[in-house]
Amino acid sequence: MSGALEGKVAFVTGGLGGIGRAICARFVREGAMVFAADLKESAAVPGTTFVPLDVSSEESVRQAMAVVQEQLGKLDILVNAAGIEIEQTIEQTSLADWNRIFAVNVTGTFLVSKFALPLLRRSGAASIVNFGSYDGFIADPGLAAYCATKGAVHALTRAMACDHGPEGIRVNAVCPGYVDTPMLRSFFRDHGDIHSLEAAVRDVHPLRRYGTPEDVANLVNWLASDEARYASGQLWVLDGGLTAQVQQMKL
Ligand SMILES: NC(=O)c1ccc[n+]([C@@H]2O[C@H](COP(=O)([O-])OP(=O)(O)OC[C@H]3O[C@@H](n4cnc5c(N)ncnc54)[C@H](O)[C@@H]3O)[C@@H](O)[C@H]2O)c1
Repeated sequence: MSGALEGKVAFVTGGLGGIGRAICARFVREGAMVFAADLKESAAVPGTTFVPLDVSSEESVRQAMAVVQEQLGKLDILVNAAGIEIEQTIEQTSLADWNRIFAVNVTGTFLVSKFALPLLRRSGAASIVNFGSYDGFIADPGLAAYCATKGAVHALTRAMACDHGPEGIRVNAVCPGYVDTPMLRSFFRDHGDIHSLEAAVRDVHPLRRYGTPEDVANLVNWLASDEARYASGQLWVLDGGLTAQVQQMKL
């Protein structure tokens, strides 16, 4: 590894999830001091500090940022990777479910970024990486509310980049396709014949595989690093070529 993040302080929400874990592990290997924030502490990522966090609660976000303030007093990298998925059409979606997914995926990104800003300003060269999705550009059937949240994160990413670029804060969104994490596994499980679905998903990709959390961590690592110093306000699709095709599979 290159030590690209030596001396930097990073805060990763959803830091114990499939993608968040890979990002935390990569950041540690690159020399960063890493806060892995998540709802509950499960097997810790070696070299990180766990911070309990519910991104949908203003009080919880305030407390988490107070921990960063007390321990290190600045922040260089914020990754908003916490997210949930609800597999429903709008007709099947209750208002409570709609509000819940927006509270985590959109309000969570807003709240954590808002309360991280005072710490990020002290960096001089800060980077926020939000999590969008290819579902924010095109729709998977039966994921209506999820698609809407990711479209909102894309718009928020551009707006934050405009507002905070002059303060030395870059803001980008990573927009993965299918990535092999607990979220994807639960999606497969909910669709009956796991093996044929997994094969269908794999084979529809031009690269004939779905992504790994490490594939995503590679891009996040670059966006977080000073090598990406001129990259801001963009939505970085990482999907093995999936959305380059005219025809999508039917699930
Ligand atoms: N896996 C994919 O195929 C895929 C594709 C596109 C985008 N994404 C996005 O990538 C991000 C990470 O997804 P993943 O696949 O690692 O999912 P995951 O389910 O493995 O991890 C999500 C993490 O977020 C945490 N979380 C959920 N609600 C929270 C809350 N209120 N406060 C704090 N933490 C909370 C969970 O505890 C979990 O650790 C998500 O934003 C997701 O929408 C994933």
